[in-house]
Amino acid sequence: MQVQLNPIKTIEVALQEIASQTAGFDIKFCPGVRLADPKFGDYQANGVLGHAKITRENPRKLAQSLIDSANNSGQFDSDMVNLSLAGPGFINFKLTAKFYWQWLQKFAAPSDFELGAGRIKKDRRIVIDYPSANTAKQAHIGHLRPMVIGEAIARLLDFCGAKTTRDNHIGDWGTNFGTLIMQIKREGVELDALGDDALVKLDQLYKDGSALELKQPEIRTKSRNELVKLQAGDPENAAIWQKIVAISKVAFDQIFKQLGVSVDVSLGESFYQDKVGRIYKELSEIGLAEESQGALVVWHDEVKKFSRNNERPYPFNIRKKDGASNYASTDLATVLYRVETYRAQEVIYLTDSRQQDHFQQLFLTTEKWFSQKKYPLPLMRHVYWGTILGEDKKPFKTKSGQTIRLQALLDEARERAFQVVTQKNPALSESERRRIGDIIGVGALKYADLSSNRTLDYEFNWDRMLSFEGNTAPYLLYAVARINSIFRKVNVDPENLLIEASPLETATEFALARKLIEFIHAVELSLNDLRPHFLCTYLYELAGCYSSFYNSDKVMVDSSAVRARRLLICARTRTVLQIGLNLLGISTLERM
Ligand code: ARG
Repeated sequence: MQVQLNPIKTIEVALQEIASQTAGFDIKFCPGVRLADPKFGDYQANGVLGHAKITRENPRKLAQSLIDSANNSGQFDSDMVNLSLAGPGFINFKLTAKFYWQWLQKFAAPSDFELGAGRIKKDRRIVIDYPSANTAKQAHIGHLRPMVIGEAIARLLDFCGAKTTRDNHIGDWGTNFGTLIMQIKREGVELDALGDDALVKLDQLYKDGSALELKQPEIRTKSRNELVKLQAGDPENAAIWQKIVAISKVAFDQIFKQLGVSVDVSLGESFYQDKVGRIYKELSEIGLAEESQGALVVWHDEVKKFSRNNERPYPFNIRKKDGASNYASTDLATVLYRVETYRAQEVIYLTDSRQQDHFQQLFLTTEKWFSQKKYPLPLMRHVYWGTILGEDKKPFKTKSGQTIRLQALLDEARERAFQVVTQKNPALSESERRRIGDIIGVGALKYADLSSNRTLDYEFNWDRMLSFEGNTAPYLLYAVARINSIFRKVNVDPENLLIEASPLETATEFALARKLIEFIHAVELSLNDLRPHFLCTYLYELAGCYSSFYNSDKVMVDSSAVRARRLLICARTRTVLQIGLNLLGISTLERM
């Protein structure tokens, strides 16, 4: 067996092929290889049981014949992996010390891992729609999750070889612009002169404008007229709109920079205004969309809640009564654009869970529309999440009950981390403590978000996320820094260690190596489900294995062969931790 980044895959594929040539099996047989309890080996295949149930054969006999074929196939040399029959018909796989050693040799630099991982999604064209906030509103805590989760997913996809396009689908069109323009004109605001806090002021103008509209109906008419003028291309309103969009962009870019978010394109809702006409036409022509009380709607009768005979009719409304486009029309135009322009094979949308119905209706509509028009249908997925809660288990707010601004949250994270660093390391210069605090603070904020299962709510807790113990960013960053300090002391190039090193010996060395080999499995789990917390859990466990190893097996022993191999394991652990943290969008530190 060749040493691959992901032995599970190699074993799965080989076993499937061998089974297809073994009596009692067929091509439909699925080996079902997964990680095993270390007591039994490295991997376990449980597919024979299910297969035997269908063919009504003795599962143990069947499993044994598969093991025999595998051993005779030449694909499972006994010096690399050993197969054994277990329980009612499981097949256990135990990788040999030689395999472990070769794996550690082969996967050394980050580029070796990239090469191996790059096959998983090789050249698949994927558009990731994030963070897609709305123009003219300040970033608040609700924007943290799309930025952090979106960036992690995008990095995972890049790492696995996909051709990604990060498309920031900003909400830069809609009724709020009528209100905003009305209020800007009412107050005679000079948009160019708003200064640094321009977005804060726009936010306030909108709030004031909306409040007025509620009190005075004639103001609402004014706002609506401004919107109509904007949509008809009135030069004055278009110029105001452009300035608003530019102000938002500057403010968002500042946040993106701090959070390490990198978007490729920002094609907002306004970009699709001249493309919605085709949507109305095509969907009406194929009989998918129909007029309903002046609006254009699509019914999905096969889904109770979107069907006509639901008590509260809830169709996909793709054009408003007044003829204006809406969120649904632009999103339909957007799918088509992504398929025609980027030839997208997958589109991943990130929003909070409140938009689940919208995306369900969007996907259903697109499937039916594309199948009739014979357009290539991309795989569409909606990545959503739960709420960030405060200690009172209610949505996390400021003490006075306000929404927390994202910039304030970032500033507080940095300041608190600075305090922690100062406590631990008072001897460092202030600027160094600030620099380290910035990385720990932002990393901790991100990691706390990524390490919880995204579909669940999670409780925001500064002390917990900044703790050096537990499943936190500081704990992982500290593991990396500790390994760095070893190498600062010995000052060797880990790759030169290979010649001197002796093969693994102790149980903790093996346990750590085993965990290292599991890395790509964790990446795949995260990717399949688009849930970065699997990777977090893995990194936490890896750091735990490293701690056990470090506590029980002294690294700087006299025997140069033992020292060399232990240093080598340290170096590999550092590489995997660094790759993993980088995939999560978290920078590491040389020392802390
Ligand atoms: N701007 C939207 C919001 O803030 C999110 C857009 C998500 N993307 C999309 N293609 N609908 O809720």
